[in-house]
Amino acid sequence: MDGKVMVTGGAGYIGSHAVLALLDAGHDVVVLDNLVTGFDWAVDPRATLVRADVADDHAVRAAIRDHDVRAIMHFAGSVVVPESVADPLKYYRNNTAATRALLESAVVEGVAHFIFSSTAATYGSPVRVPVQEGDPTVPINPYGMSKLMTEAMLRDVAAAHPINYCALRYFNVAGADPQGRSGQSTVGATHLIKIAVEAATGKREAVSVFGTDFDTPDGTGVRDYIHVSDLAAAHVAALDLLIAEPTRSHTLNAGYNRGFSVNEVLDAVDRVTNLTIQRRYEGRRAGDPAALVADNSAILAALPWRPRHDDLDTIVRDALAWERKLALRD
Ligand code: UFG
Repeated sequence: MDGKVMVTGGAGYIGSHAVLALLDAGHDVVVLDNLVTGFDWAVDPRATLVRADVADDHAVRAAIRDHDVRAIMHFAGSVVVPESVADPLKYYRNNTAATRALLESAVVEGVAHFIFSSTAATYGSPVRVPVQEGDPTVPINPYGMSKLMTEAMLRDVAAAHPINYCALRYFNVAGADPQGRSGQSTVGATHLIKIAVEAATGKREAVSVFGTDFDTPDGTGVRDYIHVSDLAAAHVAALDLLIAEPTRSHTLNAGYNRGFSVNEVLDAVDRVTNLTIQRRYEGRRAGDPAALVADNSAILAALPWRPRHDDLDTIVRDALAWERKLALRD
């Protein structure tokens, strides 16, 4: 593709992996990040970093022009579900309103393609598992609603303007770049695999297991854990598709069509580390569905993308390797 790809949130966890995948595929990349939760060192030096907020029209439009941006991958946003319940307006500002501003900048400057980080949280408690893209979207928290509102904006904008989009509904993203170039560095993480590898490196004493009475085989919550590098590769493949078929847009689940329970994940961590991480069995966490697994037939049909790191032990091993690297740094 001529011109550059702008990656918002490219200094964050998933965004930094997308930057690596784009660069490895030969794209030129400009990262736009306000560095509130991201880290400048997480941005590969082959990319240009512009420190700005996605809602700053002036800075965004200048960056689009200066770098001849043809496509935007939009990762910037807030991602902590319980925080969205406590402070919903932060989520409607950082996710919904900021994306509205970014889309306007994109349309005014003639950006042709837009890839959006959506979420399985748009489904709420799914009517069936595995869940399909056409199933009801009834978010059970402001985070999911803030992303679903953005999907609605994208649909309307693509109908009115010469821009197409792909909304990828992520399931549970975990792991780290297999080459050790990036990983999840988030301070105060809440995600299971991150927490478990923090326990493995001695940063935590134990892992809480939230709920043992779900309607699942072992009573603990079941999720579809997707390796962050597979997810990043799906973005690059989605960009190719948007370029090849500029009048079509897509909404696709990004997952593996298989779930693991919390106990199965912690068993994998024990296996990989040769430790027995202490488990504290506790009550359910508010708003957690019993099971959330992607029907991924649509993404497999739409893209040449195929999972390459879809082994739970591999995901845990890569997350652990990054956690050990971070521990050395502290
Ligand atoms: N869990 C624990 N202990 C922990 C952390 C999590 O038992 O310390 C459990 C949860 O209850 C859940 C599973 O592990 O059953 C996964 O929890 P995460 O917090 O890792 O992830 P979620 O499934 O809650 O969140 C993910 C995405 C969100 C998205 C949400 C939709 O990270 O962005 O799915 O439900 F909104």
